[in-house]
Amino acid sequence: MNPVIRPRRLRATPAMRRLVAETRIHPAQLILPLFVREDIAEPAPIGSMPGVVQHTLDSVKQAVQDAAAAGIGGVMLFGIPAGRDAIGSGATDPAGILNRATRVVAAEAGDALVVQTDLCLDEFTDHGHCGVLDAHGTVDNDATLERYRGMALAQAEAGSQLLGLSGMMDGQVAAVREALDAAGRTDTAILAYAAKYASAFYGPFREAVDSQLTGDRRTYQQDPANRIEGLREAALDEAEGADVLMVKPAMSYLDVLADVAAVAQVPVWAYQVSGEYAMIEAAAANGWIDRGRAIRESVTGILRAGAGAVLTYWALELASDPDSAA
Ligand code: PBG
Repeated sequence: MNPVIRPRRLRATPAMRRLVAETRIHPAQLILPLFVREDIAEPAPIGSMPGVVQHTLDSVKQAVQDAAAAGIGGVMLFGIPAGRDAIGSGATDPAGILNRATRVVAAEAGDALVVQTDLCLDEFTDHGHCGVLDAHGTVDNDATLERYRGMALAQAEAGSQLLGLSGMMDGQVAAVREALDAAGRTDTAILAYAAKYASAFYGPFREAVDSQLTGDRRTYQQDPANRIEGLREAALDEAEGADVLMVKPAMSYLDVLADVAAVAQVPVWAYQVSGEYAMIEAAAANGWIDRGRAIRESVTGILRAGAGAVLTYWALELASDPDSAA
């Protein structure tokens, strides 16, 4: 018997495949993470992330111009300070590297891009944890919330429009929302890294921000084994007032992403993290996979799973060739 139903008809030509594609990569839904380092004179390459650099306060301007010209949706800023201490003082200091970089980037971006900032203490603490420690060396949730409130005000003041709360402290969204509102910053939006897992795929990022961490973040970031917990975290953050939810990493958590996207009433994004980037770059450098196709397939998969936007280190490259995405 010959088949009557032939799905292959819709795959027969490039034009037909392009027409019936359910998912496309559009520049507006790509967000470029940018690293800005204090006290360097030239951009510094990051060994485990080929093609990605730590910017100077000057070189980041061109990166922002390029991002705006490419039509991407926004940039997410990370700062690498020259000095660190136990409470991450540089995070709340208006002259701290992230807040200075935010001023520079906000001035450069104008209305072309949404300027976003990482709101977390790990880049600024000498122990590398995302919060402050108590007398026993344990991350102190509620004392950390006080630090986050201060960071939120400093970042909003510097010109960040969307605060990326990535520290995974309980109650962080509510605490930051309250601090912003009390200061009249009702227009500053919150991107909650709602479901953030304790992942090996953050490895290259630790080099990118010169992380001081020994040990791990398993008392605050989620166990990779848990799917329901991802939904719980996302629901809590939405209820606390998050404007956007994020799932992170992306590729190993597409089920969580799809779960959250199915029920959230705010946009849901995903972060294709440093290790996801490094794996594809490394395999491609060895000639083991087709780099361009692997990049597009990975981001298409994240969008297909339900992400409204993706943070990816390939944002500029993808934005320049979005049509080949499908
Ligand atoms: C915390 C933060 C991390 C990343 C983004 N924000 C590191 C961590 O949680 O250990 C990782 C991003 C990446 O790997 O690309 N400030």
